[in-house]
Amino acid sequence: MTRFAGRSGNALIGRTKVPGDKSISHRALMIGAVSIGRTSVSGLLEAEDVLCTAVALRALGAGVEKMGQDWIVDGVGVGGLTSPDDILDLGNSGTAARLLLGLMATHDLTAHITGDHSLRSRPMNRVIDPLSRMGAFFHARDGGRMPLVVHGATEPIPLEYEVPVPSAQVKSSVLFAGLNTPGTTTVIEGEATRDHTEHMLKAFGADLDVTVADDGVRRISLTGYAELEARDVVLPGDPSSAAFPGVAALMVPGSDVTIENIGLNPLRAGLFETLQEMDADIEITNVRDQSGEPVGDITFRHGPLTGADIPAARAPSMIDEYPIAAMAAAVASGETRFRGLAELRVKESDRFAAIVDGLVACGVPARADGDDIVVTGQGGPPPGGAEVHVNLDHRIAMAYLVLGLASAKPVTIDDAAAIETSFPGFLELMTGLGADIAPVGD
Ligand code: S3P
Repeated sequence: MTRFAGRSGNALIGRTKVPGDKSISHRALMIGAVSIGRTSVSGLLEAEDVLCTAVALRALGAGVEKMGQDWIVDGVGVGGLTSPDDILDLGNSGTAARLLLGLMATHDLTAHITGDHSLRSRPMNRVIDPLSRMGAFFHARDGGRMPLVVHGATEPIPLEYEVPVPSAQVKSSVLFAGLNTPGTTTVIEGEATRDHTEHMLKAFGADLDVTVADDGVRRISLTGYAELEARDVVLPGDPSSAAFPGVAALMVPGSDVTIENIGLNPLRAGLFETLQEMDADIEITNVRDQSGEPVGDITFRHGPLTGADIPAARAPSMIDEYPIAAMAAAVASGETRFRGLAELRVKESDRFAAIVDGLVACGVPARADGDDIVVTGQGGPPPGGAEVHVNLDHRIAMAYLVLGLASAKPVTIDDAAAIETSFPGFLELMTGLGADIAPVGD
């Protein structure tokens, strides 16, 4: 494992771009794979998670390859996926696993899927339950864990499904299963989650209808046996990746960083709202539409941050950003309470524990209070000086390297390789802005 440390000293200065959006990259490949014709994807995230999806879709019969700068997907049409002749290894990617299970669940095929130690410990019952009701059959390890076998339904049954926890992966999985199902499949969500699936299915010609009730409950209805038509898509930079250099700039004195072409879908932009509530100096410019998603440039400048009370309702729109938001809270003055974080316990690692334990190890008082995390900000550089175990979690790795950039003593992570899951080029991008992040010997 490669140990790396983040050290304070240098301001971060410059203009940069981050790689393509991970969520949209998975969806572009998957929806392209069940469309008719050739989809071209520009700006695809070439990280391990998305490459797992590419390899799996090829094994299921679609054509997926890189040509020049773009990725080309030759779709087999809804209903056209076939049994792979080997086990699908989805690495670290929960999105690949849950969304592909949805696609496969209503195709007449059998597939074995597995993943790394992290993915094999994550709950799959949240998709196995609704997909079984649509006629698929699963053999899974204890409590719906991978490795598992899926036998797709031969006579798919449409479903009206109320998602029990806010989850874009579960919503997307059921909608993907609905593509090759007769009648109408409906997903009901009490709290809105990222809606890239809905945008992209519509753009590819699906008959999909979204209604939002006065109390915010959303009904997403999809007409089955969809005929999707290939099209070209241009992907925005990933706001979840931009968060790391962006928040680093807010935390490190003298910094001024602009990140161009960041996806600003309101259901992903909760971190920016939170940072503004913490008095961060953030400026969003050049907002425009790109392939149906809003994008813009964001400038992050260092300045004093203030603790804030972040409501549970914010969680779905910044679910992947709590690790880095907690690092910002560590340098803010006053207390920050992040409410309603139960879902963090079942991410790539137990992020709830990783935030609390890692901050405490770095000398920052942090505690769990039920499902809330409470961080006592240091109003300046935290002590630092700890080594944090990444546990195959890319966002924990990046968050603690960033904390090191603003701490009195370096912060070390035990496994920088995990970053490849979502953000290839992270170390080069950060050092290019001036950050002192380097390998540490034993
Ligand atoms: C994702 C949804 C979220 C998020 C994950 C990506 C997606 O997961 O944490 O990184 O692309 O749909 P949940 O649906 O489990 O909240």
